[in-house]
Amino acid sequence: MSLISILKKKNKKTLFTTPSHSGRIYILKKFYQWYRADISEVDAINPTEALAKAEEKASKIYETKSTSFLTNGSTGGILASVIASCKQGDKLLIWKNSHPCHKNAGTLTGAKIIEYELEYNSNWGIYEALTPRQTEELLKKHNPKAIIVTSPSYEGIVSDIESISKICKKYGVYLIVDEAHGALYPFSDRLPKSAIPYADFTVQSLHKTAGGINPTALLHCNCELNVKQALALITTTSPSYPMLATIEANINFLNSKRGRKKIEELIDRIVELRSKLTNFEFYGDDVTKILIKKQGLSGYELSDILFDRYNIEDEKTNEKSTMLLTGIGTDKTKLAKLEKLKNFNFTK
Ligand SMILES: Cc1ncc(COP(=O)(O)O)c(C=O)c1O
Repeated sequence: MSLISILKKKNKKTLFTTPSHSGRIYILKKFYQWYRADISEVDAINPTEALAKAEEKASKIYETKSTSFLTNGSTGGILASVIASCKQGDKLLIWKNSHPCHKNAGTLTGAKIIEYELEYNSNWGIYEALTPRQTEELLKKHNPKAIIVTSPSYEGIVSDIESISKICKKYGVYLIVDEAHGALYPFSDRLPKSAIPYADFTVQSLHKTAGGINPTALLHCNCELNVKQALALITTTSPSYPMLATIEANINFLNSKRGRKKIEELIDRIVELRSKLTNFEFYGDDVTKILIKKQGLSGYELSDILFDRYNIEDEKTNEKSTMLLTGIGTDKTKLAKLEKLKNFNFTK
């Protein structure tokens, strides 16, 4: 039985167990359904087995050795990947401007953290991809145990993970890919290739682009390391089954005809939008991350105008450009707000 069905099922036993709300006292009434579905590992329900089956099913969908459901975001996935691959004193290569969890993961394991730089694109105020050539130079120079690559970057810059993985294999280095912003990639050929088939570990946030609730995420493992043991070191023994059930439902949705159609519609609409916004410049490898700039305005000025005059809040801005994040919930109406920018003619 799926985790989703287990949570819907009426339990006939009287439970003198945790959780203490017993699904009966809704201290925050607005979320009463959440309380009702919030259960522990009791024999009468046995969500543990259902969770294991849901993860097995996910692993088949993503074609991995294992796929683990995370309720501590991609952060948890990065921590577990580093714990699984590095021991104290091992060298861990991370990008200098990476998400703080990369450094935290190294600190936690006692790894020797070595930071690498990426080429800065001064026209757009963002960093470019890690190239296979740079990777080989880094591995030769430092002889690390593992390397973490962020792909896509926040702004949608994608590294050639297939080639990078070949180099990592050649040097016997574990490859961990932070694909937090790329959870839609396995479900459309029009998006960049997912790292999942190539990397030893790939981490994806479902909550960022794929419709998941904060902070649901996935850790895909395609190597022999004991990822479950690593996860056990950083995970509570009282998981939130309602949250885990949303992950099961999320994957089912993304993999369904309806979900895939939604992704294609999103891409179609953004492609059309871009063709109308001829007054802006666009950049990046991932069409769903709308990275724009306007001649004569800094990214910050553009961001302020969008906020003050168009009621639009962007995801991330730098000196040169502004990034508007879209995802599975970005519908026609939301994108129509951006279409208004075709008459945008502000300058300093
Ligand atoms: C590139 C990148 N990696 C990892 C994370 C952490 O993800 P989560 O919030 O799912 O823990 C973030 C969050 O912003 C991120 O941008």
